[in-house]
Amino acid sequence: MTSSSGSWWVFTVVVVVSLLQQLCFLNTTTTTAAASRIILSNETDRMALLEFKLMITGDPLGVLSSWNDSTHFCYWYGVSCSRRHVGRVQVLDLRSEKLSGCIPPTFGNLTELIYLLLSDNSLWGEIPLVLENCQNLLYVELAYNNLSGVIPPQLVMSSSSLIYLDLSDNHLSGALPAEVGGLLNLEELDLSHNMLHIGNLSFLRNLVLLNNSLSGGIPSEIGRLRRLQELRLSENSLEGTILSVIGNMQTLQLLDLSGNRISGSIPPTFGNLTELIYLSLSDNNLWGEIPVVFENCRNLVSIELAYNNLSGVIPPQIFRISSSLNYFNLSHNNLSGTLPAEVGRLINLEVLDLSHNMLSGGIPTSLGSCVVLGALYLQDNLLQGIIPPSLGSLRGIQVLDISGNNLSGQIPKSFEGMKLLQIFNLSYNNLEGEVPSSGVFRNGSIISVVGNGKLCGGMAELNLPPCNFIQKKKTFWRHKSIKIVILAVTGLLCLAVMGSCMLIFWFRRRGKQATLSVDDSQLLLSYHDLHKATDGFSATNLIGAGSFGSVYKGFIEANGIGNTVAVKVFNLQRNGASRSFMAECAALKNIRHRNLLRILTVCSGVDYQMNDFKALIYEFLANGSLEEWLHPVGTSTDEPPRTLSFLQRFNAAIDVATAMDYLHHQSGTPIVHCDLKPNNVLLDMDMVAHVGDFGLARFLQSVAEPSPLGHASSSIGVKGTVGYAPPGKSSILKIYKLHH
Ligand SMILES: *[C@@H]1O[C@H](CO)[C@@H](O)[C@H](O)[C@H]1NC(C)=O
Ligand SMILES: *[C@@H]1O[C@H](CO)[C@@H](O)[C@H](O)[C@H]1NC(C)=O
Ligand SMILES: *[C@@H]1O[C@H](CO)[C@@H](O)[C@H](O)[C@H]1NC(C)=O
Ligand SMILES: *[C@@H]1O[C@H](CO)[C@@H](O)[C@H](O)[C@H]1NC(C)=O
Ligand SMILES: *[C@@H]1O[C@H](CO)[C@@H](O)[C@H](O)[C@H]1NC(C)=O
Ligand SMILES: *[C@@H]1O[C@H](CO)[C@@H](O)[C@H](O)[C@H]1NC(C)=O
Repeated sequence: MTSSSGSWWVFTVVVVVSLLQQLCFLNTTTTTAAASRIILSNETDRMALLEFKLMITGDPLGVLSSWNDSTHFCYWYGVSCSRRHVGRVQVLDLRSEKLSGCIPPTFGNLTELIYLLLSDNSLWGEIPLVLENCQNLLYVELAYNNLSGVIPPQLVMSSSSLIYLDLSDNHLSGALPAEVGGLLNLEELDLSHNMLHIGNLSFLRNLVLLNNSLSGGIPSEIGRLRRLQELRLSENSLEGTILSVIGNMQTLQLLDLSGNRISGSIPPTFGNLTELIYLSLSDNNLWGEIPVVFENCRNLVSIELAYNNLSGVIPPQIFRISSSLNYFNLSHNNLSGTLPAEVGRLINLEVLDLSHNMLSGGIPTSLGSCVVLGALYLQDNLLQGIIPPSLGSLRGIQVLDISGNNLSGQIPKSFEGMKLLQIFNLSYNNLEGEVPSSGVFRNGSIISVVGNGKLCGGMAELNLPPCNFIQKKKTFWRHKSIKIVILAVTGLLCLAVMGSCMLIFWFRRRGKQATLSVDDSQLLLSYHDLHKATDGFSATNLIGAGSFGSVYKGFIEANGIGNTVAVKVFNLQRNGASRSFMAECAALKNIRHRNLLRILTVCSGVDYQMNDFKALIYEFLANGSLEEWLHPVGTSTDEPPRTLSFLQRFNAAIDVATAMDYLHHQSGTPIVHCDLKPNNVLLDMDMVAHVGDFGLARFLQSVAEPSPLGHASSSIGVKGTVGYAPPGKSSILKIYKLHH
């Protein structure tokens, strides 16, 4: 009895499963006609859902157990109904429920369906053709399943209002239906990780086909995608050349063809892609020279041409493209010639990678102007000459690799101040002299020096011979003439020092209101000093909290002068705070104006727990921020109410405008503040307004260019405060950020 009922059970299961399999692959074209004849209602929707439940062979989480007649189907798990058409299914959301089975053709009866969300399950079989009846579909998400077969063109054709179509990570094959081009509302199409090949597309805005097995050449039809903003075909097997028709896609903002087998040279029509923000052609077989035309692409933020066979020199014009360039990677090519001095114009550059080329000549001194540089890779080239001491001004640098070159001379002392350095690779050069052992070099594991025969000293970990000073000194002192010269110079120096001391003393006595200033080079403050000045950063001294840190009032005594200051302590745990500190230092380094908040000094070190500590010390402005005057809160009784007269408001506006004029037009390289709001405008004793907080500030390219403000600021994706910042431009930058 039990054995016979058992075998019957097995038989039934086998029959049902094979029946289901047939159904899954049965692309019922006849039912399409049937659907138009029958009257669709709440009842047909219920049947369609029950059919789906039948088709599901595996439901380990039991999510479909609620799909029974004890409840109305509109309340079944994952189902929501339309309010307008009572009892018609509008949403089917069963994402990540571990369901296995297939999508039944009866889904064609769910004509009010808007959201079909079944991604991340184990659904197999084909996408039913009948989905073409579901003309209200806006969001279709079937990613991460085992769906096979072709993408039914009917699906795409009928739901022309489709906004989002994600079929990525399945086993779909065949050509991309040309009808995709008709999806005028489509905002995102993701077909990555399938076995599709490219078809005939036009009208598309974004095209993402990462990691498919697209092969063959890039079709010339691509030139017809005139509205395309984003083209990502990376990690495929594309061959052939980059066609010059690519220059027709003038709205393109993101182009990623990396990880293919594309050969040939970069066509000069790239110069037409003036909206381009992000470009990656890495990891292909491109050869020939880098075209000069890139200088037209003034919005570029990131360029990657690494791992190709590009040759010739790096055209200096490429460094003129835009000062907003942030990432520049030409590594692993055959580039020769020198690194042009124009590289110093890239003042927003964070990563420069020119490693594994054949660059010769010296490292340009101008690199020291790339103040926000965080990583510099120049290893494995043929660079000669000394390491420019100007690189010591790259205070934010974390990785500096110049190994495998022919650099000579000494390691500049100025490098001791590179506080954030984590990797400093000097191996295999011809450097000589003493390796510094103070500052950042106290940590011997940061620096690699092997393969430099003439280096000495440094920390013990480096295993270098000690520097033999005594011997050198002896030979040195033997020359009488040198002795005399040195004596004379020392004498003169002594006189000069005494003279200037007297002068300073005299000025001190004359100056009645001496204050601290940056020029007091003695004013070096440690964490300890600031801790003391602000009563251990006590809450009573807290005068404000900004986006990246807190501001405290402090009292500092230096050189016999006491002064109230404002100390801005950066919260380095917060992502971007370190960059904000760098941005602020870079911006404030060379500017000075009566309507800008004056910075007195900086402090960059470690706190008592040995955590990194960064602070900026400003003059303290007694009357607080403009915000407190414009929108006073909780006025205490003992203080007079804060109100501004019309004239005071007018003057504040003029002060701010004067400061902006200075930043934009008078200060050399134009600076955009990016976060101008009453909170960041401070008032002094005489109610003169001073603009502060340069944590989001950016440099711009030369003012001579036509409307550089509009261009560059839009392409760098200005941040700032909602309500005070201009509206964002596009989603491109988000994608660019994700990529890094
Ligand atoms: C379907 O709609 C009809 C008419 O609107 C209604 O009488 C019936 O109760 C509904 N059935 C279900 C299952 O909602
Ligand atoms: C029917 O669904 C309800 C929830 O909607 C559930 O509580 C009940 O156990 C289900 N009945 C069966 C027989 O699965
Ligand atoms: C729609 O529902 C009707 C009635 O339940 C059914 O006969 C028909 O086959 C369904 N259509 C599809 C495409 O499944
Ligand atoms: C691509 O589509 C367009 C119009 O949709 C058509 O004119 C053209 O012939 C198609 N090209 C190919 C190669 O199918
Ligand atoms: C390295 O530079 C020196 C001059 O500084 C030069 O004499 C020598 O030939 C160079 N070596 C190589 C391999 O280029
Ligand atoms: C430094 O460079 C050399 C040669 O390029 C390499 O072998 C070594 O691994 C590098 N060291 C570090 C710490 O990156």
